[in-house]
Amino acid sequence: MDQNKAMVIFQPSGRRGEIPKGINLIEASRLLGVDIEALCGEKKVCGKCIVRIE
Ligand code: FES
Repeated sequence: MDQNKAMVIFQPSGRRGEIPKGINLIEASRLLGVDIEALCGEKKVCGKCIVRIE
């Protein structure tokens, strides 16, 4: 794997891919076509974009 990328796997869909290091998870989700609700536009108000990292 490229040293500048990380493997990210979203559950429950199982969608995965190598993502450039340094981008946040909501950007990673968009790159992989995973739909995470972001009702407040990522302003840290609504809490809809919360994910659990395992
Ligand atoms: S989109 Fe609202 S807190 Fe993240």
